[in-house]
Amino acid sequence: MKLIHNIKTLYTMVSTPGNPLGAIDNAVVGWDDNKITFIGQQFPPLKKGDKGGFSLDANGATMLPGLIDCHTHLVFAGSRAEEFAMRSRGATYQEIMQNGGGIRSTMRAVRAASKQELIDLALPRLEAMLKKGVTTIEAKTGYGLSLNDELKTLEVLGALQKLQPIEILCTFLGAHAIPPEYEGQREQYVDHVVNDMLPRIAEQGIATMCDVFVERGAFTVEDGRRILQAAKQVGLLTRVHAEQLSHFGGAKLAAEIGAQGASHLEFVSPEDMKRLADASVVAEILPIAQEYLNLQPVPGRALIGAGVDVAVATDFNPGSAMCNDIHLAARLAVTRCGLTCEEALLGVTANAAKALGRSDIGQIRVGAKADLCLLRGESVWDLLYDWSDNPVIGLFKNGIDTSFLLRNGISGKKKTNNNETTESTAHTEKT
Ligand code: NIG
Ligand code: FE
Repeated sequence: MKLIHNIKTLYTMVSTPGNPLGAIDNAVVGWDDNKITFIGQQFPPLKKGDKGGFSLDANGATMLPGLIDCHTHLVFAGSRAEEFAMRSRGATYQEIMQNGGGIRSTMRAVRAASKQELIDLALPRLEAMLKKGVTTIEAKTGYGLSLNDELKTLEVLGALQKLQPIEILCTFLGAHAIPPEYEGQREQYVDHVVNDMLPRIAEQGIATMCDVFVERGAFTVEDGRRILQAAKQVGLLTRVHAEQLSHFGGAKLAAEIGAQGASHLEFVSPEDMKRLADASVVAEILPIAQEYLNLQPVPGRALIGAGVDVAVATDFNPGSAMCNDIHLAARLAVTRCGLTCEEALLGVTANAAKALGRSDIGQIRVGAKADLCLLRGESVWDLLYDWSDNPVIGLFKNGIDTSFLLRNGISGKKKTNNNETTESTAHTEKT
Protein backbone atom coordinates (compact mmCIF):
# COMPACT_ATOMS: atom_id res chain seq x y z
CA MET A 1 0.00 0.00 0.00
CA LYS A 2 1.12 3.57 -0.70
CA LEU A 3 0.30 6.17 1.91
CA ILE A 4 0.31 9.88 2.55
CA HIS A 5 0.42 10.84 6.24
CA ASN A 6 0.54 14.08 8.21
CA ILE A 7 -2.37 15.61 6.28
CA LYS A 8 -3.54 18.55 8.40
CA THR A 9 -7.12 18.24 7.12
CA LEU A 10 -8.46 15.81 4.56
CA TYR A 11 -11.58 17.00 2.73
CA THR A 12 -13.21 13.80 1.49
CA MET A 13 -16.20 15.65 -0.07
CA VAL A 14 -18.45 12.95 1.40
CA SER A 15 -21.03 15.30 2.97
CA THR A 16 -22.63 14.44 6.31
CA PRO A 17 -24.89 16.66 8.45
CA GLY A 18 -22.68 19.27 10.10
CA ASN A 19 -19.65 18.28 8.02
CA PRO A 20 -20.48 19.24 4.42
CA LEU A 21 -16.98 18.65 3.08
CA GLY A 22 -16.43 15.42 5.05
CA ALA A 23 -13.38 16.89 6.79
CA ILE A 24 -11.04 14.63 8.80
CA ASP A 25 -8.16 16.19 10.77
CA ASN A 26 -4.68 14.64 11.01
CA ALA A 27 -5.43 12.10 8.33
CA VAL A 28 -3.65 9.26 6.58
CA VAL A 29 -4.80 8.10 3.12
CA GLY A 30 -3.67 4.86 1.50
CA TRP A 31 -4.11 3.27 -1.91
CA ASP A 32 -3.26 0.10 -3.80
CA ASP A 33 -2.80 0.39 -7.55
CA ASN A 34 -5.22 3.12 -8.60
CA LYS A 35 -7.83 2.76 -5.84
CA ILE A 36 -8.10 4.21 -2.34
CA THR A 37 -7.99 1.38 0.20
CA PHE A 38 -7.49 3.21 3.50
CA ILE A 39 -8.61 6.43 5.21
CA GLY A 40 -7.84 6.99 8.89
CA GLN A 41 -6.02 8.97 11.53
CA GLN A 42 -3.42 6.31 12.36
CA PHE A 43 -1.24 4.22 10.06
CA PRO A 44 -3.04 1.02 8.98
CA PRO A 45 -1.64 -2.27 10.34
CA LEU A 46 1.02 -3.74 8.03
CA LYS A 47 -0.34 -6.47 5.80
CA LYS A 48 1.64 -9.64 5.09
CA GLY A 49 3.27 -9.58 1.70
CA ASP A 50 2.70 -5.85 1.20
CA LYS A 51 5.98 -5.06 -0.47
CA GLY A 52 6.79 -1.91 -2.39
CA GLY A 53 4.73 0.37 -0.17
CA PHE A 54 5.85 3.77 1.10
CA SER A 55 4.49 6.70 3.02
CA LEU A 56 4.91 10.30 2.00
CA ASP A 57 4.89 13.06 4.62
CA ALA A 58 2.35 15.71 3.56
CA ASN A 59 4.00 18.00 6.08
CA GLY A 60 0.71 19.46 7.31
CA ALA A 61 -0.74 20.15 3.86
CA THR A 62 -4.47 20.07 3.08
CA MET A 63 -5.87 17.33 0.83
CA LEU A 64 -8.97 17.19 -1.34
CA PRO A 65 -9.94 15.07 -4.36
CA GLY A 66 -8.35 15.89 -7.71
CA LEU A 67 -10.49 18.65 -9.22
CA ILE A 68 -12.93 17.95 -12.05
CA ASP A 69 -13.73 20.42 -14.83
CA CYS A 70 -17.00 18.93 -16.09
CA HIS A 71 -17.57 21.28 -19.05
CA THR A 72 -14.86 22.32 -21.52
CA HIS A 73 -14.45 22.80 -25.26
CA LEU A 74 -10.75 21.89 -25.05
CA VAL A 75 -9.93 21.23 -28.71
CA PHE A 76 -9.97 24.39 -30.79
CA ALA A 77 -7.75 26.44 -33.06
CA GLY A 78 -7.64 30.13 -33.96
CA SER A 79 -8.33 33.23 -31.95
CA ARG A 80 -11.56 35.16 -31.37
CA ALA A 81 -9.82 38.15 -29.75
CA GLU A 82 -11.36 40.41 -32.39
CA GLU A 83 -14.85 39.34 -31.23
CA PHE A 84 -13.94 40.22 -27.65
CA ALA A 85 -13.04 43.71 -28.88
CA MET A 86 -16.26 43.91 -30.94
CA ARG A 87 -18.32 43.04 -27.88
CA SER A 88 -16.54 45.76 -25.92
CA ARG A 89 -17.86 48.19 -28.55
CA GLY A 90 -21.44 46.91 -28.14
CA ALA A 91 -21.85 43.91 -30.48
CA THR A 92 -23.61 40.94 -28.89
CA TYR A 93 -22.54 37.27 -28.95
CA GLN A 94 -25.61 36.41 -31.04
CA GLU A 95 -25.04 39.22 -33.56
CA ILE A 96 -21.47 38.05 -34.10
CA MET A 97 -22.75 34.48 -34.53
CA GLN A 98 -25.41 35.59 -37.06
CA ASN A 99 -22.75 37.37 -39.11
CA GLY A 100 -20.72 34.20 -39.63
CA GLY A 101 -18.35 34.68 -36.68
CA GLY A 102 -18.59 32.93 -33.33
CA ILE A 103 -18.65 29.14 -33.36
CA ARG A 104 -18.37 29.06 -37.17
CA SER A 105 -15.15 31.06 -37.03
CA THR A 106 -13.58 28.43 -34.76
CA MET A 107 -15.07 25.73 -36.98
CA ARG A 108 -13.11 27.09 -39.96
CA ALA A 109 -9.89 27.08 -37.94
CA VAL A 110 -10.47 23.54 -36.62
CA ARG A 111 -11.29 22.17 -40.07
CA ALA A 112 -8.10 23.75 -41.45
CA ALA A 113 -5.89 22.36 -38.66
CA SER A 114 -4.16 18.98 -38.75
CA LYS A 115 -4.61 16.55 -35.89
CA GLN A 116 -1.05 17.23 -34.79
CA GLU A 117 -1.68 20.98 -34.73
CA LEU A 118 -4.79 20.48 -32.60
CA ILE A 119 -2.84 18.23 -30.24
CA ASP A 120 -0.03 20.77 -29.93
CA LEU A 121 -2.54 23.50 -29.14
CA ALA A 122 -4.38 21.43 -26.52
CA LEU A 123 -1.40 20.04 -24.58
CA PRO A 124 -0.31 23.32 -22.93
CA ARG A 125 -3.97 23.90 -21.98
CA LEU A 126 -4.06 20.53 -20.23
CA GLU A 127 -0.76 21.36 -18.57
CA ALA A 128 -2.24 24.58 -17.15
CA MET A 129 -5.22 22.60 -15.83
CA LEU A 130 -2.99 19.96 -14.25
CA LYS A 131 -1.10 22.70 -12.43
CA LYS A 132 -4.41 23.81 -10.93
CA GLY A 133 -5.02 20.33 -9.52
CA VAL A 134 -7.39 19.05 -12.21
CA THR A 135 -7.37 15.25 -12.69
CA THR A 136 -10.48 14.80 -14.89
CA ILE A 137 -12.12 16.96 -17.53
CA GLU A 138 -15.03 16.68 -19.89
CA ALA A 139 -14.21 17.85 -23.44
CA LYS A 140 -16.69 18.49 -26.23
CA THR A 141 -16.44 18.38 -29.99
CA GLY A 142 -18.58 20.94 -31.79
CA TYR A 143 -16.04 22.87 -33.87
CA GLY A 144 -15.89 20.27 -36.64
CA LEU A 145 -19.59 20.20 -37.55
CA SER A 146 -19.05 17.64 -40.31
CA LEU A 147 -18.80 13.91 -39.76
CA ASN A 148 -15.09 13.80 -40.61
CA ASP A 149 -14.14 16.86 -38.59
CA GLU A 150 -16.12 15.69 -35.56
CA LEU A 151 -14.42 12.26 -35.79
CA LYS A 152 -11.07 14.05 -36.20
CA THR A 153 -11.67 16.07 -33.02
CA LEU A 154 -12.45 12.89 -31.13
CA GLU A 155 -9.30 11.23 -32.48
CA VAL A 156 -7.35 14.22 -31.20
CA LEU A 157 -8.93 13.74 -27.78
CA GLY A 158 -8.08 10.03 -27.90
CA ALA A 159 -4.45 10.89 -28.71
CA LEU A 160 -4.31 13.51 -25.93
CA GLN A 161 -5.45 10.88 -23.45
CA LYS A 162 -2.28 8.91 -24.19
CA LEU A 163 0.06 11.89 -23.87
CA GLN A 164 -0.79 13.20 -20.40
CA PRO A 165 -2.42 12.10 -17.12
CA ILE A 166 -5.70 14.09 -16.98
CA GLU A 167 -8.62 11.77 -17.72
CA ILE A 168 -10.66 13.16 -20.63
CA LEU A 169 -14.35 12.25 -20.90
CA CYS A 170 -15.54 13.07 -24.39
CA THR A 171 -18.85 14.57 -25.49
CA PHE A 172 -20.15 14.73 -29.06
CA LEU A 173 -21.56 18.22 -29.69
CA GLY A 174 -22.38 17.99 -33.39
CA ALA A 175 -25.40 20.22 -32.70
CA HIS A 176 -23.35 23.21 -31.57
CA ALA A 177 -24.07 25.40 -34.61
CA ILE A 178 -25.46 24.89 -38.09
CA PRO A 179 -22.52 24.53 -40.48
CA PRO A 180 -22.37 26.67 -43.66
CA GLU A 181 -23.13 23.63 -45.89
CA TYR A 182 -26.56 23.46 -44.21
CA GLU A 183 -27.29 27.21 -44.16
CA GLY A 184 -31.07 27.62 -43.97
CA GLN A 185 -31.54 23.83 -43.66
CA ARG A 186 -31.46 23.29 -39.93
CA GLU A 187 -33.78 20.29 -40.00
CA GLN A 188 -31.69 18.56 -42.66
CA TYR A 189 -28.60 19.08 -40.53
CA VAL A 190 -30.40 17.57 -37.53
CA ASP A 191 -31.32 14.59 -39.76
CA HIS A 192 -27.64 14.27 -40.65
CA VAL A 193 -26.61 14.39 -36.98
CA VAL A 194 -29.19 11.74 -36.05
CA ASN A 195 -28.89 9.42 -39.04
CA ASP A 196 -25.23 9.66 -40.05
CA MET A 197 -23.13 11.23 -37.34
CA LEU A 198 -24.42 9.62 -34.14
CA PRO A 199 -24.09 6.00 -35.35
CA ARG A 200 -20.49 6.62 -36.55
CA ILE A 201 -19.54 8.49 -33.37
CA ALA A 202 -20.89 5.61 -31.29
CA GLU A 203 -19.03 3.09 -33.46
CA GLN A 204 -15.77 5.05 -33.06
CA GLY A 205 -16.24 4.67 -29.30
CA ILE A 206 -14.33 7.72 -28.01
CA ALA A 207 -17.33 9.89 -27.02
CA THR A 208 -19.45 8.65 -24.12
CA MET A 209 -21.82 11.62 -24.00
CA CYS A 210 -23.85 13.83 -26.34
CA ASP A 211 -24.66 17.52 -25.87
CA VAL A 212 -26.89 19.99 -27.80
CA PHE A 213 -26.87 23.81 -27.80
CA VAL A 214 -30.57 24.62 -27.37
CA GLU A 215 -30.93 28.35 -28.06
CA ARG A 216 -32.46 30.84 -30.47
CA GLY A 217 -30.17 30.84 -33.52
CA ALA A 218 -28.81 27.39 -32.65
CA PHE A 219 -31.12 24.37 -32.12
CA THR A 220 -34.77 24.13 -31.04
CA VAL A 221 -36.16 22.07 -28.19
CA GLU A 222 -37.58 19.65 -30.76
CA ASP A 223 -34.15 19.28 -32.45
CA GLY A 224 -32.59 18.68 -29.04
CA ARG A 225 -35.20 16.06 -28.19
CA ARG A 226 -34.60 14.15 -31.43
CA ILE A 227 -30.82 14.23 -31.10
CA LEU A 228 -30.69 13.32 -27.43
CA GLN A 229 -33.21 10.49 -27.82
CA ALA A 230 -31.10 9.10 -30.66
CA ALA A 231 -27.97 9.55 -28.54
CA LYS A 232 -29.52 7.53 -25.74
CA GLN A 233 -30.35 4.77 -28.19
CA VAL A 234 -26.69 4.43 -29.17
CA GLY A 235 -25.69 4.34 -25.48
CA LEU A 236 -24.48 7.89 -24.88
CA LEU A 237 -25.22 9.93 -21.75
CA THR A 238 -26.94 13.23 -22.48
CA ARG A 239 -26.39 16.85 -21.55
CA VAL A 240 -27.80 20.19 -22.70
CA HIS A 241 -26.45 23.76 -23.13
CA ALA A 242 -29.60 25.39 -21.72
CA GLU A 243 -31.03 28.84 -21.02
CA GLN A 244 -27.74 30.64 -21.61
CA LEU A 245 -28.85 33.66 -23.64
CA SER A 246 -32.63 33.47 -23.24
CA HIS A 247 -35.29 31.30 -21.65
CA PHE A 248 -35.72 28.82 -24.51
CA GLY A 249 -36.75 25.46 -23.02
CA GLY A 250 -33.43 23.61 -22.74
CA ALA A 251 -33.72 23.01 -19.00
CA LYS A 252 -37.21 21.54 -19.33
CA LEU A 253 -35.91 19.30 -22.10
CA ALA A 254 -32.96 18.19 -19.94
CA ALA A 255 -35.40 17.13 -17.22
CA GLU A 256 -37.73 15.39 -19.67
CA ILE A 257 -34.87 13.44 -21.30
CA GLY A 258 -33.27 12.59 -17.94
CA ALA A 259 -30.02 14.30 -18.95
CA GLN A 260 -26.97 13.97 -16.73
CA GLY A 261 -26.39 17.72 -16.74
CA ALA A 262 -27.83 21.04 -17.91
CA SER A 263 -25.28 23.82 -18.32
CA HIS A 264 -25.23 27.64 -18.17
CA LEU A 265 -28.82 28.34 -16.91
CA GLU A 266 -28.53 32.12 -16.61
CA PHE A 267 -32.20 32.37 -17.70
CA VAL A 268 -33.54 29.32 -15.82
CA SER A 269 -37.04 29.76 -14.30
CA PRO A 270 -38.24 28.61 -10.86
CA GLU A 271 -40.42 25.95 -12.61
CA ASP A 272 -37.35 24.65 -14.45
CA MET A 273 -35.42 24.46 -11.19
CA LYS A 274 -38.07 22.19 -9.74
CA ARG A 275 -38.02 20.03 -12.87
CA LEU A 276 -34.22 19.72 -12.73
CA ALA A 277 -34.37 18.76 -9.05
CA ASP A 278 -37.15 16.19 -9.60
CA ALA A 279 -35.26 14.58 -12.52
CA SER A 280 -31.87 14.67 -10.68
CA VAL A 281 -30.28 16.68 -13.47
CA VAL A 282 -27.08 18.34 -12.25
CA ALA A 283 -26.85 22.09 -12.96
CA GLU A 284 -23.42 22.94 -14.36
CA ILE A 285 -22.91 26.60 -13.72
CA LEU A 286 -20.23 28.36 -15.78
CA PRO A 287 -19.46 31.66 -14.07
CA ILE A 288 -16.49 32.49 -16.32
CA ALA A 289 -18.69 32.41 -19.45
CA GLN A 290 -21.32 34.43 -17.61
CA GLU A 291 -18.72 37.13 -16.84
CA TYR A 292 -17.04 36.92 -20.23
CA LEU A 293 -20.33 37.65 -22.03
CA ASN A 294 -21.48 40.00 -19.27
CA LEU A 295 -24.69 38.00 -18.73
CA GLN A 296 -26.95 38.17 -15.72
CA PRO A 297 -25.64 35.83 -13.00
CA VAL A 298 -26.96 32.29 -12.91
CA PRO A 299 -29.13 31.92 -9.78
CA GLY A 300 -26.88 29.37 -8.08
CA ARG A 301 -28.31 29.99 -4.63
CA ALA A 302 -31.89 29.49 -5.86
CA LEU A 303 -30.94 26.30 -7.73
CA ILE A 304 -29.48 24.84 -4.55
CA GLY A 305 -32.52 26.07 -2.63
CA ALA A 306 -34.73 24.17 -5.09
CA GLY A 307 -32.80 20.98 -4.35
CA VAL A 308 -30.65 20.88 -7.52
CA ASP A 309 -27.07 19.55 -7.28
CA VAL A 310 -24.80 22.29 -8.60
CA ALA A 311 -21.47 21.65 -10.33
CA VAL A 312 -19.08 24.44 -11.31
CA ALA A 313 -16.95 24.36 -14.48
CA THR A 314 -14.88 26.65 -16.72
CA ASP A 315 -16.65 26.17 -20.10
CA PHE A 316 -13.14 26.78 -21.50
CA ASN A 317 -13.62 27.81 -25.16
CA PRO A 318 -12.33 30.54 -27.48
CA GLY A 319 -15.61 32.46 -27.77
CA SER A 320 -17.35 32.77 -24.43
CA ALA A 321 -14.75 31.68 -21.84
CA MET A 322 -11.12 31.89 -22.94
CA CYS A 323 -9.92 30.72 -19.55
CA ASN A 324 -9.21 27.24 -18.19
CA ASP A 325 -8.78 28.21 -14.53
CA ILE A 326 -11.11 26.05 -12.46
CA HIS A 327 -10.10 28.00 -9.34
CA LEU A 328 -11.44 31.21 -10.93
CA ALA A 329 -14.67 29.44 -11.87
CA ALA A 330 -15.14 28.35 -8.24
CA ARG A 331 -14.28 31.83 -6.92
CA LEU A 332 -16.83 33.49 -9.21
CA ALA A 333 -19.43 30.89 -8.25
CA VAL A 334 -19.07 32.27 -4.72
CA THR A 335 -18.90 35.99 -5.46
CA ARG A 336 -21.31 36.14 -8.42
CA CYS A 337 -23.67 33.15 -8.18
CA GLY A 338 -24.29 33.04 -4.44
CA LEU A 339 -22.66 29.72 -3.60
CA THR A 340 -21.02 29.21 -0.22
CA CYS A 341 -17.34 28.27 -0.24
CA GLU A 342 -18.36 24.73 0.72
CA GLU A 343 -20.78 24.51 -2.21
CA ALA A 344 -18.19 25.85 -4.66
CA LEU A 345 -15.68 23.18 -3.59
CA LEU A 346 -18.33 20.45 -3.89
CA GLY A 347 -19.10 21.94 -7.31
CA VAL A 348 -15.61 21.22 -8.64
CA THR A 349 -15.37 17.76 -7.01
CA ALA A 350 -18.30 15.57 -5.92
CA ASN A 351 -21.01 17.36 -7.92
CA ALA A 352 -18.84 17.64 -11.02
CA ALA A 353 -18.44 13.85 -10.85
CA LYS A 354 -22.24 13.49 -10.64
CA ALA A 355 -22.63 15.74 -13.69
CA LEU A 356 -20.46 13.25 -15.57
CA GLY A 357 -22.27 10.20 -14.23
CA ARG A 358 -19.17 9.00 -12.38
CA SER A 359 -19.24 7.62 -8.85
CA ASP A 360 -15.53 6.70 -8.67
CA ILE A 361 -14.09 10.22 -8.73
CA GLY A 362 -14.71 13.54 -6.96
CA GLN A 363 -14.66 12.05 -3.46
CA ILE A 364 -11.95 10.50 -1.30
CA ARG A 365 -13.40 7.23 -0.05
CA VAL A 366 -12.43 3.59 -0.05
CA GLY A 367 -12.98 2.17 -3.53
CA ALA A 368 -12.73 5.52 -5.33
CA LYS A 369 -9.87 6.36 -7.66
CA ALA A 370 -6.74 7.67 -5.97
CA ASP A 371 -7.05 11.15 -7.50
CA LEU A 372 -5.60 13.31 -4.75
CA CYS A 373 -4.77 17.01 -4.65
CA LEU A 374 -2.51 18.57 -2.00
CA LEU A 375 -2.77 22.26 -1.12
CA ARG A 376 -0.12 24.31 0.61
CA GLY A 377 -1.17 25.73 3.94
CA GLU A 378 -3.78 24.88 6.45
CA SER A 379 -6.93 26.36 4.98
CA VAL A 380 -8.82 24.86 2.08
CA TRP A 381 -10.43 28.29 1.60
CA ASP A 382 -7.09 29.56 0.22
CA LEU A 383 -8.12 28.03 -3.10
CA LEU A 384 -11.07 30.46 -3.19
CA TYR A 385 -9.78 33.34 -1.09
CA ASP A 386 -6.36 34.10 -2.55
CA TRP A 387 -7.08 35.11 -6.16
CA SER A 388 -3.43 35.60 -7.06
CA ASP A 389 -2.10 32.32 -5.72
CA ASN A 390 -2.16 28.70 -6.84
CA PRO A 391 -1.99 26.64 -3.64
CA VAL A 392 -1.68 23.25 -5.42
CA ILE A 393 1.60 21.61 -4.39
CA GLY A 394 0.97 17.97 -5.22
CA LEU A 395 -1.30 15.87 -7.41
CA PHE A 396 -1.88 12.14 -7.82
CA LYS A 397 -3.92 10.75 -10.72
CA ASN A 398 -4.93 7.08 -10.43
CA GLY A 399 -2.42 6.83 -7.58
CA ILE A 400 0.43 8.06 -9.75
CA ASP A 401 2.42 11.09 -8.63
CA THR A 402 2.32 13.84 -11.26
CA SER A 403 4.72 16.21 -9.44
CA PHE A 404 7.38 15.77 -12.08
CA LEU A 405 4.88 16.99 -14.68
CA LEU A 406 3.65 19.78 -12.40
CA ARG A 407 7.23 21.06 -12.25
CA ASN A 408 8.38 20.33 -15.79
CA GLY A 409 5.21 20.47 -17.86
CA ILE A 410 3.63 17.94 -20.20
CA SER A 411 3.65 19.84 -23.48
CA GLY A 412 7.11 18.61 -24.40
CA LYS A 413 8.15 22.13 -25.34
CA LYS A 414 11.41 22.96 -23.58
CA LYS A 415 12.35 26.60 -23.23
CA THR A 416 15.80 27.34 -24.64
CA ASN A 417 17.98 30.29 -23.68
CA ASN A 418 16.90 32.55 -26.50
CA ASN A 419 13.22 31.92 -25.75
CA GLU A 420 12.71 29.61 -28.71
CA THR A 421 10.96 26.35 -28.11
CA THR A 422 12.04 22.90 -29.20
CA GLU A 423 9.53 20.17 -29.88
CA SER A 424 9.68 16.84 -28.14
CA THR A 425 6.02 15.86 -28.24
CA ALA A 426 5.50 12.19 -28.97
CA HIS A 427 5.02 11.82 -32.70
CA THR A 428 1.45 11.47 -33.84
CA GLU A 429 0.44 10.89 -37.40
CA LYS A 430 -0.36 14.02 -39.42
CA THR A 431 -3.44 14.16 -41.61
O1 NIG B 1 -20.66 27.00 -23.90
N1 NIG B 1 -23.02 28.29 -25.89
C1 NIG B 1 -22.51 27.61 -26.73
N2 NIG B 1 -21.28 27.12 -26.73
C2 NIG B 1 -20.16 27.65 -26.04
C3 NIG B 1 -19.53 28.77 -26.74
C4 NIG B 1 -18.81 28.30 -27.91
C5 NIG B 1 -18.15 29.38 -28.66
O2 NIG B 1 -18.53 30.56 -28.62
O3 NIG B 1 -17.19 29.02 -29.35
C6 NIG B 1 -20.48 27.95 -24.60
O4 NIG B 1 -20.54 29.11 -24.18
FE1 FE C 1 -20.09 25.19 -23.33
